[in-house]
Amino acid sequence: MLNTTELYYFSPTGGTKKAGEIFCQGISENVKIVDLGLRDRAAEKPESELVVVAAPVFGGRIPAIVADKLGELDGNGKWAVTLAVYGNRAYEDALLELNNVIEQRGFKVVASAALVAQHSIVEEVGKGRPDEQDRRSILGFAGKVLDKMEKGAESPVKVPGNYPYKDGMSTPAAPVSLSSCKQCERCASVCPTGAILQENGTFVTSSEKCILCMACVKACPEHVRILPPPLQETMEQKLGALKSVRRENEYFL
Ligand SMILES: Cc1cc2nc3c(=O)[nH]c(=O)nc-3n(C[C@H](O)[C@H](O)[C@H](O)COP(=O)(O)O)c2cc1C
Repeated sequence: MLNTTELYYFSPTGGTKKAGEIFCQGISENVKIVDLGLRDRAAEKPESELVVVAAPVFGGRIPAIVADKLGELDGNGKWAVTLAVYGNRAYEDALLELNNVIEQRGFKVVASAALVAQHSIVEEVGKGRPDEQDRRSILGFAGKVLDKMEKGAESPVKVPGNYPYKDGMSTPAAPVSLSSCKQCERCASVCPTGAILQENGTFVTSSEKCILCMACVKACPEHVRILPPPLQETMEQKLGALKSVRRENEYFL
């Protein structure tokens, strides 16, 4: 086990964080956890032996906000493990993009993985993942990463994906609050892009700033924050067939 590891994650609904934490349990006793989704967070300087970076997959890419936040990290030749966490559909160019961003920051990528978590828009897809089977396989991967690091981690990591990347996702609409909203402000406080603002006593969401990450929907204690029903229905129809499919995690060393 390593003495120290840092986990940098962006996880609007918790799946990416869970997958990243499982990996870190298998690699180090001391893990410093940094939430890239917190607004007004001061830039961090990685100091551990290994930096683990975990990002969710949005439209086959990593969210632009993640690339921006990672742009503040100085790798300085340190080793990194990259984890792209996706909702049981496909991760397309996301892992390649994550690796490119991390390498541009001066890290050496020692290993990568595409891990499955519950889909944050259609929760029946990948429901309950990462589950016990995932946990065991992710811990097995962590063991292999430790072995590779002990041997000097010389071989470069190649991951699937294309460059130029596929186009970034368009966000056709933002979540809305039902009239029974109690204005507790929780949605506004968890929004990573600051898209939800109070105007004349009600909360207004900027669809320009919203990245549809679902953090506000997940955090609403009254369950009155939802995707506009036509958009939710479209997503259910698009992804419905994946409810009975189990994609497996993929590891690259
Ligand atoms: C806007 C948006 C786009 C998504 N795009 C994809 C995708 O292209 N492929 C996929 O398999 N899952 C996709 N997902 C599902 C997420 O990748 C998955 O649920 C991930 O675990 C979310 O991370 P979180 O739980 O840390 O928020 C998308 C989710 C959202 C909210």
